[in-house]
Amino acid sequence: MTRPSGCPFDPPTELARLRESQPIVRMRYPDGHLGWLATGHSAVRAVLADTRFSSRYETMHYPFPDGPTGELPPAPLGDLTGIDAPEHTRYRRLLTGKFTVRRMRALTARVEQIVAEHLDAMERRGPVVDLVEAYAQPIPALMICELLGVPTDDREVFQRHTTTLTNQLSTDDERIAAIGAFHEILHALVLAKRAEPTDDLLSDLTHGSDLNDDELAGIGSFLLGAGLDTTANMLALGTFALLSNPEQLAALRADPGLTDQAVEELMRYLTIAHTGVRSALEDVEIAGQSIKAGETVTLSLQAANRDPQRFPEPDVLDVRRKATGQVGFGHGVHQCLGQQLARVEMRVAFPALLDRFPTLRLAVPPAEIPLRTHSNIYGVHRLPVTWDEE
Ligand code: HEM
Repeated sequence: MTRPSGCPFDPPTELARLRESQPIVRMRYPDGHLGWLATGHSAVRAVLADTRFSSRYETMHYPFPDGPTGELPPAPLGDLTGIDAPEHTRYRRLLTGKFTVRRMRALTARVEQIVAEHLDAMERRGPVVDLVEAYAQPIPALMICELLGVPTDDREVFQRHTTTLTNQLSTDDERIAAIGAFHEILHALVLAKRAEPTDDLLSDLTHGSDLNDDELAGIGSFLLGAGLDTTANMLALGTFALLSNPEQLAALRADPGLTDQAVEELMRYLTIAHTGVRSALEDVEIAGQSIKAGETVTLSLQAANRDPQRFPEPDVLDVRRKATGQVGFGHGVHQCLGQQLARVEMRVAFPALLDRFPTLRLAVPPAEIPLRTHSNIYGVHRLPVTWDEE
């Protein structure tokens, strides 16, 4: 489901219309399956919290047009989002301890350092710069590579394969090739960590768990992909949204104490991971509708985050809002494992950028910013920005 070309931040108006009619409605899938679409906040959360719904890809019908056809292949090894208990529980237990709030907060000083280095480089280059390439992409990439213990030299290759994986227009062959390439690099790395451990997550997992080398390479590839493409898009799209809402930008500049809630609000307002999918394992009733075993339910996280029953005046970006309960990181057993890392990165990177460039603005008209409309992760391809030099 793509966004309208008119407003780069709002979900398609059709979603709001459906949500007003009912929080969960019938939907015909591109392959002919008659399933469901949930748009209401409480219906979306109810499905995500209910383990009678499966996350296994092979149980699902694909909701987007022009995407893979026929039965979906099972999740590649290490892809947590496409598996259920007990496999999911086992991986999740091994990983949760590595992503605690405390551990991620301890990374703050390192994030601050990386952010400052990139701001210095931007300043040296002078305006105009593409914020995606100069700031939004490299910061999360360096962080996830350092955390995992992956050489940053391979970053561009990783970035390209990640974009292939999230692009809804990629063919099955392109996806398989991207997963294979990722896996090959990670496999070699796991062997290296086994031989000589270093101080990073992949070494920890290699030596401190019973995961085999294939599982380790799979988990490593998945974490890398998840860490590369998500926060980067939040940083770029979030900056675009702030620059497009001058009064919100001014409020945040005036009171950096608003940063934590502004980040939560941007997560709600932008919902870059806009859609989830589940399939019923048995008959389940949700919001008065009877969902039968085998039926697929598409969850519009973006519509849920704009539900007026949960968030008053949902289409307004309000950095003073308490957006608790927003589902931009998902909900339930598959809720984002990297959310604390993403929050730390955003809480450092947004205010530092605004502080360094008090006159930051778009360098082209908003309509010329290229949007990632065919990706599972929404965002911008480029964000040319400018500022007044001292
Ligand atoms: C899962 C969004 C950053 C790792 C998820 C899910 C969402 C999400 C919506 C749930 C998927 C589902 O239910 O099917 C985001 C957003 C991010 C972000 C918007 C940035 C702003 C990260 C980062 C990592 C990460 C930095 C780094 C390690 C994961 C993992 C899962 C996940 C491993 C799967 C969890 C599971 O299935 O148990 N993310 N994510 N994410 N995310 Fe993130």
